[in-house]
Amino acid sequence: VQKVIYDTDPGVDDAMALFFLHYHPEIDLIGITTGHGNASVEITTRNALYLKERFGIEAPVARGAAGPVTGQDAHHASGVHGENGLGEVVVPEDIKAQAIDMPAHRFIVETVRKHPGEVRLLAVGRMTNLALALREDPEIAGLVKDVVIMGGAFGFNGHLGNVTPCAEANIYGDPQAAEEMFAAPWPIAVIGLDVTHEVLMTQHYLRTLATEAGEVGQFIWEISRFYENFYLKKGLAGISVHDASAAIYLVAPDLFETRQGPIRVVCEGIAFGQTIQRPANVGFPPNDWDGRPSHAICTAVKGPELLELYRETL
Ligand code: BDR
Ligand code: CA
Repeated sequence: VQKVIYDTDPGVDDAMALFFLHYHPEIDLIGITTGHGNASVEITTRNALYLKERFGIEAPVARGAAGPVTGQDAHHASGVHGENGLGEVVVPEDIKAQAIDMPAHRFIVETVRKHPGEVRLLAVGRMTNLALALREDPEIAGLVKDVVIMGGAFGFNGHLGNVTPCAEANIYGDPQAAEEMFAAPWPIAVIGLDVTHEVLMTQHYLRTLATEAGEVGQFIWEISRFYENFYLKKGLAGISVHDASAAIYLVAPDLFETRQGPIRVVCEGIAFGQTIQRPANVGFPPNDWDGRPSHAICTAVKGPELLELYRETL
């Protein structure tokens, strides 16, 4: 069983990934950390607490950063996830579950220190909490098992960005944090738009979840109405499976093909938020990227198998 901390900004697809983590028998969800992203950190934390309470998720929730490490304004995505982050499905006001009395980045540091070599960090929002954890205690890079993120885009299958022509939302929302995360010597697997835009849940698939997966399937149907409208208007045949693809990578890495190499993030100018990998298997002349740690990016995915695993798990 794998110990996982889920760093998230719920978020419609964040909620869908959370359900996979909750129901998969090989995953022991030991913490949920929230941050700015799809909505403000107040809203994403409230949503995490609501999901915890309604679906009986035991993991503690720790509230994280309200904005990027640079102090720049947070960039939200109400046009994709609705103003309330859950596709405008009404969330009750009287939520009893409460966040713990510790900021997300400190919870990450303390939990990693408590279980050296065991914790897997799954980050599917802005990378701010991870960067703050590294700033507070750089040694955690050698103490986690690994880091799996949803973020970035590297041009595979023609995918480069969803917020700008060259930037994906989780990186665009705090490029400096992502740059610091990629500079750290922990093993990272990156599930970017290259693969998440290749896995689509059609309306038919979502209807199947609604009828076969009980209350949670019905809830997914409800929160995905707004989100689906956004993707159908873009001309896609269904909704992109962003965060749940990264969650599935934890238990089924064989469904993905990867490429190794150091990664950097553009932190200013017109390519703000762009992710670039220097592939290890291409004979570029030596440069100062050579000393940087190598990470895996996903370049291809077995979409139908991934969707089947998600359905079976729920
Ligand atoms: C990412 O941005 C958010 O809209 C999703 O939750 C996902 O984490 C995709 O770019
Ligand atoms: Ca997300």
